[in-house]
Amino acid sequence: MKRKSFYVLFVALLLIVLGACSNSSSSDDGGESSNGDGKIELFSWWTAGGEADGLDALIEQFKEEHPDIEVENAAVAGGAGTNAKAVLANRMQGGDPPSTFQVHGGDELLAGWVAADKMQPLNDLYEENNWSEVFPQELIDMVSKDDNIYAVPVDIHRGNVVFFNSKVFEDNGIEAPTTWDEFLDVADQLESSGVTPLALGDKNVWPATMIFENILLANLGADDFDKLWDGEIGFDDERVVQSAETFKEVLNYVNDDHSARAWQDASQLVSDGEAAMNIMGDWANGYYLSQDLKPNEDYGWAATPGSEGTFMVITDTFGLPKDINNEDQVKEFLTVLGSKEGQDAFNPMKGSIPARTDTDLSNYGEYATDTIKDFKDASLVASLAHGSAAPEQVVTQVNQAVNIFVTQKDVDQFTTSLQDAVDAGTE
Ligand code: GAL
Repeated sequence: MKRKSFYVLFVALLLIVLGACSNSSSSDDGGESSNGDGKIELFSWWTAGGEADGLDALIEQFKEEHPDIEVENAAVAGGAGTNAKAVLANRMQGGDPPSTFQVHGGDELLAGWVAADKMQPLNDLYEENNWSEVFPQELIDMVSKDDNIYAVPVDIHRGNVVFFNSKVFEDNGIEAPTTWDEFLDVADQLESSGVTPLALGDKNVWPATMIFENILLANLGADDFDKLWDGEIGFDDERVVQSAETFKEVLNYVNDDHSARAWQDASQLVSDGEAAMNIMGDWANGYYLSQDLKPNEDYGWAATPGSEGTFMVITDTFGLPKDINNEDQVKEFLTVLGSKEGQDAFNPMKGSIPARTDTDLSNYGEYATDTIKDFKDASLVASLAHGSAAPEQVVTQVNQAVNIFVTQKDVDQFTTSLQDAVDAGTE
């Protein structure tokens, strides 16, 4: 009996001591991170030209404001998070979250990590920084659930852009196509003059999915595009079948080695003038800028054919995971990331526009000026390829269907698999 009460007392004391330790480690004075060595572990997939530069600039900005807090850049290479998301999932499941991580606003955050109860609300941080006044409501909605706000957007990327090599266009006397029929005409012309019409790097399938989602957007418009992913419009819809047919034709005009290239290697074909066009999010703008290409001289851009007046939104956000030990430090980091200074350090290099509406635009250049205007005027729509329009499971199955379609080009099989993907996700 005596031995037992001594044991209970010992365990109680141990718990008190451990509790005290964990409280002190969440304070500002050098508390420990989830990886236990007192620094912010910043998890993303930004390793390519432009995106890595933006990330470095953001970290520099943070260090300037907080020289006492160490930041570890824990980026995992692979565009669109192909590898990073799997690593993250393992760590989250294993109870070892990074201090903060890149996640797309929309379903990737809300139907993923928030629904799994892995994130902490940031309403207090929004209030302290007056962020509800400076972030567009549409973005706040993409990171909110049941009156709680779960992440801070660092950027706005546009997913419906065609970039082109200005000299190749000039030499061939062509302008950016405004419909997919025009695209196919222009592609014929380019091919006969020995230029690859469209650069594609679908080593990881998502860039091919982006082309297809852009064709869908052109044929359905923003509202109906959205309805596809919650099951309100079926994939037997004539406009979807037509989109698959067009996609099949477009694939005839891509570089032969597309399946060996990543998005940045495909973007490079356009820089080099080997390919004329690239359908990509505007991190490709960051990539071209990182190569010292001059906007409107070396490369130009337009909305993808048929998508003028719409803006496919991709927003990279960062939040506060549960079960980390350095909450206060991470909040300091999020505060810088959401500040004018943080956003103005990051976005001009990243190729994106700031999520805030009140930053200093003097360093942003011509692409951003156009894009900020378009964001204000256009109908906004969330990207499927980047995880905002549907849960991860649907995105994964759609990617699988696209991967098979790129080689087999069977429209019936494709639309059936897409329907299966959405049905499985909405069950
Ligand atoms: C997207 C992300 C962008 C960019 C791109 C390529 O998913 O939102 O910020 O990094 O992947 O890696």
